[in-house]
This record gives sequence, C-alpha cells and structure tokens, in this order.
Amino acid sequence: MCGRYLVCMTGASGAIYGIRTLRALAELGQEVHALASVWGERVVREETGRSFGDWTRELGIPPERRYDPGDLSAAPASGSFALEGTIIAPCSMASAGAIAGGISLNLIHRAALVSLKEGRPLVLVPRETPLSLVDLRNLTALAEAGAVVMPASPAFYQGPESIGDLADFMAGKILDRLHIEHQLFKRWGAL
Ligand SMILES: Cc1cc2nc3c(=O)[nH]c(=O)nc-3n(C[C@H](O)[C@H](O)[C@H](O)COP(=O)(O)O)c2cc1C
Repeated sequence: MCGRYLVCMTGASGAIYGIRTLRALAELGQEVHALASVWGERVVREETGRSFGDWTRELGIPPERRYDPGDLSAAPASGSFALEGTIIAPCSMASAGAIAGGISLNLIHRAALVSLKEGRPLVLVPRETPLSLVDLRNLTALAEAGAVVMPASPAFYQGPESIGDLADFMAGKILDRLHIEHQLFKRWGAL
C-alpha cells in the first residue's frame, strides 16, 4: 500500500542513513517528500561527495516534493497535510533540542512538532557520542511526547559486508516502525 512519508536530514554524521531510507521508500513505491537542513546539506556533501539535490534527483523525488528548510509556509508545516510518517535521519542534537523545546527554527522542527500534535508517527535517528545529560533529557522528552527514538546503532549479528548493509539495517528498522514491509536485512531466525 502506498503512503506519504516525509524524510528529513539534519547535520549529524550519518547522511547514508537518510539516503538509504529515502531509497528504500522510493523503491517500494511510496510517495516520498524530502528536505535537508542547511547543515544536513553540508554533511551530505562532506560524507558522500554529492549534493542532497543530486541524491533526490537520482532517487526520482520530484522537485515539488522537495522543500526549502527555511520555508515555514510549505505543506509539511500544516497538520492538514496528511502524512503516514515523518522521519529525521540522521537527527542532530541541535534539532533534537529544538523539537524537544517546542521551537520551530526551521521546517524540519515544525514538521516534527506537527507530527507530535497530530499523533502521527515520528521516527528520530539521533547520532552523537557521547550523549550529554542535556541530550539524554531532550531525547527522553521526545520519547515521552510520542516520538520513536531510534539511535543510529546498527546490529552486527546479521553479517553485514559493507557500510551500505549497516545503513540498510537502520533503514529497515525505520520501515518496521512504520509497518512497511521490506527486505533490507535478514531477520534473526531466518538466517
Ligand atoms: C561534518 C559534521 C559532522 C557533524 N556531526 C554531528 C553529529 O554526529 N551529531 C550532532 O548532533 N551534530 C553534528 N554536527 C553538528 C551539527 O551539524 C550542528 O549542531 C548543526 O547546528 C545542526 O543543525 P541542524 O540540526 O539544523 O542540521 C556535525 C557537523 C559537521 C560539520
């Protein structure tokens, strides 16, 4: 079944987690909407050597489903824009803190806060280490508010052979929480 999903990428390390999630959703025929924060775009370029725009073009995400992070009038800023799920992968501690504080500094924070107020699935993939008490409290506040906090912490029991396999494991865990069937990793017991 086709649903509408928003994938947001912020300036934490691990751009590949967001890109593999975008790819998985697009390949499964979902309606994918995407945006990256200013620092998200920078990290995509640092870690992949390509721009966020290059990636979204390659993945077939049309320009009208890509958003400017500074545009708080874009569709995902409103609860009337129905989404089956919003994903922030990777999620920086800065964005986690803004959302936990209820502050919409950009469209990513606003879309996340809209998901929470509308009771829709919000999956965050934070990446930082070590975590300060401030980070832990912000992530706890987000979990208490209804977000799924899914640290970028891929497993090794399924025999990954590449960094792509590790990223696909995280993308698969995200899709699991959104009840989207996939074959991104082998499940324990089916090895
Ligand atoms: C190459 C690079 C890697 C970064 N990695 C992380 C990280 O893993 N986790 C994190 O919380 N911030 C990281 N940062 C810092 C964030 O980009 C910074 O806090 C920024 O304000 C986040 O803004 P955003 O959430 O709007 O993208 C990194 C920055 C750069 C330039």
